[in-house]
Amino acid sequence: MSTSPLIQPQSDSDLEALRQEHYNASIIQLDFIHEMLMRVRVQADDGRLTYSPGQYTILALGGWERRMDGPSRIAEEALSRRLIKRAYSISCPLLDAQGTLAPCDSYPYLEFYITLVPRSDEEIPKRPPLTPRLFALREGDRLHMSHHIVGHYTLDPVQPEDDVIFVATGTGEAPHNAMAAELLGRNHQGRIASLTCVRERSDAGYLKEQHILSETYSNYQYHVYTTREPENLDPAHPGYVGKQYIQDVFGSHQFEADFGWRPDPQRTHVFLCGNPDMIGVPQRLADGTHEFPEKKGMIELLVGQGFQLQHAHTPGNIHFEKYW
Ligand SMILES: Cc1cc2nc3c(=O)[nH]c(=O)nc-3n(C[C@H](O)[C@H](O)[C@H](O)COP(=O)(O)OP(=O)(O)OC[C@H]3O[C@@H](n4cnc5c(N)ncnc54)[C@H](O)[C@@H]3O)c2cc1C
Ligand SMILES: NC(=O)c1ccc[n+]([C@@H]2O[C@H](COP(=O)([O-])OP(=O)(O)OC[C@H]3O[C@@H](n4cnc5c(N)ncnc54)[C@H](OP(=O)(O)O)[C@@H]3O)[C@@H](O)[C@H]2O)c1
Repeated sequence: MSTSPLIQPQSDSDLEALRQEHYNASIIQLDFIHEMLMRVRVQADDGRLTYSPGQYTILALGGWERRMDGPSRIAEEALSRRLIKRAYSISCPLLDAQGTLAPCDSYPYLEFYITLVPRSDEEIPKRPPLTPRLFALREGDRLHMSHHIVGHYTLDPVQPEDDVIFVATGTGEAPHNAMAAELLGRNHQGRIASLTCVRERSDAGYLKEQHILSETYSNYQYHVYTTREPENLDPAHPGYVGKQYIQDVFGSHQFEADFGWRPDPQRTHVFLCGNPDMIGVPQRLADGTHEFPEKKGMIELLVGQGFQLQHAHTPGNIHFEKYW
């Protein structure tokens, strides 16, 4: 373990000046689903921002801000006067204060869904830089939020009659919530399935809202799949099912059993977001064929079922957003 000295704290007025210079938004609400998972609402000083559901923006904090997992050490000093920036998909509260569906752009703030990446087993200087600082924030605190909202992971290719399947791991559910709220709000005619794979059921941060939407809209259904509950890990458990990876759901009849319909590549768009191993992005070879990663991901599975990967200039019905 490193024995480097701690960075000397800067004066309060110095910190205030840095915040004034760099920050342009405030945390107006923080909901901890548990200590490593949060839903956070951020309001820009300049008012409402425009974007398409599914897009992302940048959140940033100064390297001078407090970490929830202990003070910065000398190796991080270079960061201390700089902003640490990371991309975050814009999520959606799904239901407003009255409990009814409201499109995301009707809220004066942006909602984000963020997991804490804990300290790794590696050297302390390699601790993840931003999330331990985001998780030390409290309501009213200031931060930087880019007004330049970007991304091609949107509903643009979806026609009103198409079926839509959203597939996520963990916080990869964020953009799907924004897109689902948009589709339901515009009275989408096709079926909408949203699937999220999490370690434990308590890692599904929108469960209550998702159940209400599934009960309210006949064309919308949400299912959570787990990998680390007792029934996933303990063969002696009476309900033992093993790890429920999303690939298992699509590689068997599980999807049909859970959603009551079969994905038809002729009329279905699939959106994949989160862990790159679940997505399994292939390399595109010179002859136009794909070389898939060793671990089988969703893209390989869907291509095998007749779906087509969208490329920059080639339309397709598999779309993805990788988080790392
Ligand atoms: C387009 C885009 C949108 C994103 N949207 C979100 C979002 O809505 N919510 C969110 O929590 N993160 C999101 N991320 C990831 C985010 O940008 C950060 O990487 C993450 O919050 C960790 O930041 P960090 O500085 O603490 O660690 P980093 O140094 O950025 O990451 C360290 C490691 O943490 C793991 N990791 C990173 N993000 C996640 C994650 N979400 N879930 C599980 N493990 C992860 C990876 O192994 C990564 O190598 C998004 C990334 C991209 C590219
Ligand atoms: N309470 C806790 O301690 C807690 C809870 C949640 C998150 N975390 C931390 O938060 C960070 C993010 O974790 P996360 O669970 O949100 O994200 P994650 O590691 O991406 O995992 C999300 C889900 O994807 C599954 N998955 C992993 N590899 C896959 C693959 N090749 N194909 C398909 N699915 C795959 C995971 O199953 P596996 O079970 O196989 O990993 C898990 O169910 C981690 O660093 C973690 O330590 C901690």
